[in-house]
Amino acid sequence: VILTQDDLKKIAAYKAVEYVESGMVLGLGTGSTAKHAVDRIGELLRQGKLKNIVGIPTSKKTHEQAKSLGIPLSDLDTHPTVDLAIDGADEVDPGLNLVKGRGGSLLREKMVESACKRFIVIVDESKWVRFIGEGGLAMPVEVVPFCWKFSAKRLQNLFEYAGCVAKLRTEKEGSAQPFVTDNGNFIVDLYFKEDIGDLKIASDKILRLAGVVEHGMFLDMASTVIVAGELGITIKHK
Ligand code: A5P
Repeated sequence: VILTQDDLKKIAAYKAVEYVESGMVLGLGTGSTAKHAVDRIGELLRQGKLKNIVGIPTSKKTHEQAKSLGIPLSDLDTHPTVDLAIDGADEVDPGLNLVKGRGGSLLREKMVESACKRFIVIVDESKWVRFIGEGGLAMPVEVVPFCWKFSAKRLQNLFEYAGCVAKLRTEKEGSAQPFVTDNGNFIVDLYFKEDIGDLKIASDKILRLAGVVEHGMFLDMASTVIVAGELGITIKHK
């Protein structure tokens, strides 16, 4: 049997849901991997194998999915402490630092996942990197729409030493229509040619810029990473 990438995502997601217990307040992630976890939680609720779950969705999309599955939903205002969050990632490094936000939901994800006691990240092996940025993938930054070009330029200048190119994310490749987040903001994607160096320093520099709302580096947040590969599941703990 040849497993597709989606099969691997599903395997990681189902494994993570084994950590869910009745009565938990759960952070529900966003993306094609997290979607499998939310489906599975809905299924176990329907079968009566899980009870009294409260879900805190990390995006409007996940909110809709969870609602359609009948998962009781709440938010951080009502449930400020989350027992467990399960979500995908775009990149995971050996220190379990993540890049997230290719789906554009990084702000709500970061709010929910930094409020949880345990954060399980689920990925297929293609997301595993030796260092953040290795794959030449975008590092997303959520910015307010006001003078976004100015913010994009400042972001690019911050990382000039790493050959950074900042690009506004659009609805579709080649379209002029900016992608708008659930919070009404824009996303500037940063592409690096070289290593950006210390991630904590990079994070602080980005967050200090007025106009920046949040970025997609999730440093020191994951407690467990479940990696599904052709040869099986690997579980890494912080
Ligand atoms: C959403 O904004 C992202 O952070 C996703 O959680 C992340 O991109 C992983 O998505 P996939 O599981 O679809 O790869």
